[in-house]
Amino acid sequence: MNDSTHPTSRRDFLKGSAAVVAAGTLASGITSRAFAAGNDVLRVGLVGCGGRGTGAAFDALFADENTQLVAMGDLFADRLAGSLEKLKRDQRVADRVRVTPDTSFTGFDAYKGVIDNADVVLLATSPHYRAPHLRYAVDKGVHVFAEKPVATDAPMLRDVYETCQRAKRKNLAIVSGLCWRYHKPKVETMRRVLDGEIGEVVAIETAYLAGTLWHRGDDPSWTPMEYQNRNWLYYNWLSGDQPCEQAIHSIDKQGWAMREVAPKSCIGVGGRQVRTDEMWGNVYDHFHFTYEYDSGVRAYHQCRQMAGTRGQVRDYIMGTKGIADVFGHKLVSHSGDVMWRFKGKGGNMYRNEHVELFKSIRAGEPINNGEYMCKSNMLAIMGRMAAYTGQKITWDQAWNSEESLAPEKYEWGPAPQHPVAMPGQQKPKPA
Ligand SMILES: NC(=O)c1ccc[n+]([C@@H]2O[C@H](COP(=O)([O-])OP(=O)(O)OC[C@H]3O[C@@H](n4cnc5c(N)ncnc54)[C@H](O)[C@@H]3O)[C@@H](O)[C@H]2O)c1
Repeated sequence: MNDSTHPTSRRDFLKGSAAVVAAGTLASGITSRAFAAGNDVLRVGLVGCGGRGTGAAFDALFADENTQLVAMGDLFADRLAGSLEKLKRDQRVADRVRVTPDTSFTGFDAYKGVIDNADVVLLATSPHYRAPHLRYAVDKGVHVFAEKPVATDAPMLRDVYETCQRAKRKNLAIVSGLCWRYHKPKVETMRRVLDGEIGEVVAIETAYLAGTLWHRGDDPSWTPMEYQNRNWLYYNWLSGDQPCEQAIHSIDKQGWAMREVAPKSCIGVGGRQVRTDEMWGNVYDHFHFTYEYDSGVRAYHQCRQMAGTRGQVRDYIMGTKGIADVFGHKLVSHSGDVMWRFKGKGGNMYRNEHVELFKSIRAGEPINNGEYMCKSNMLAIMGRMAAYTGQKITWDQAWNSEESLAPEKYEWGPAPQHPVAMPGQQKPKPA
């Protein structure tokens, strides 16, 4: 794919989002399914009934009183049942939970049944499945809330990018679960950065240093495919590894501060030092990336998942006139004086995502976060590629990568056996 023909080459990214916005504007008003307006009931479906999916269903019901949860889908019946029970038990929303056995779907094709019954679908499975689910929703003219990340490899991300452009032409909403973009104090801090209050950006430091997360154990009745899907965090084909699955929230601040301009290259290191047991699948437990931009700006990211270590989720944007402490919601001069600090309440960012989603649908101007959602996801994949291979990875190399982590088939039996990446031994494809 050469630079001039691929819509997502770095050159086109650098030209900015203007062309995409223009195409979207031209296409506004076109939708493949007449959607509910005004006070009409919006039928919501949930795909992926885990912790976040259940939370998103609550958020959707609280965000707009004329929503009903009408369909749910999960790989596993027990996950769906647990989530449905939780939703039905809550008297604040129970009367709007209208899921029946006929609108409950399980297995790898569950998403189709859910989307076929919905006006708006919440996609909250493990990340590997987002691309086909998004594509099907947009094919069917259904608005989407898509949890982050939306892809674990470049071929899937290209698919998502194309789907988001199609959604724009069909006037369909794609709201991304990169939730800090809906958190008022962060939005206000970043607005000031983009308005130049800290001068020109010269460097960015982001960090997602965390402890360990859940592990769901094993069960003799599970096939390897079921085991990996239940413990999806630890298999990079399913989760994308920590940079995609978790640290993307921080990496996204870099994309935001850089106005979604693509870096020219990235180098990275990483490995698994503590989580070496087989139960931790094939993911690393720490990474560090350095991204380099044409302008000379450098962006540094580190992430870690290790028990007993210092937790730190902080992002700093260094400018010629000052520094933005994004999590501190303040701008500080180089001599340490606070130039501005956010005052007031932040609100519930998870709820806000849905408030804005439904408002935009009802206004006939659906939000489409596709552009930043995909670019930030690519930053994460690019960093991971740099660390896994031990090579310098260019943006075009990352975007055009043919490395697919997908299994040959989706059925309960053997599971993909991707080895732990060994830097220096694995070459990027294309080289
Ligand atoms: N924005 C945030 O702050 C935030 C927080 C937590 C999780 N997340 C994201 O939300 C997603 C879900 O995370 P979670 O913590 O709820 O995980 P989870 O394991 O609790 O839930 C995922 C559910 O999806 C189901 N599932 C997996 N593949 C499926 C498929 N093909 N079809 C239907 N169902 C399928 C699983 O069985 C499981 O019940 C992930 O992408 C994660 O990164 C975002």
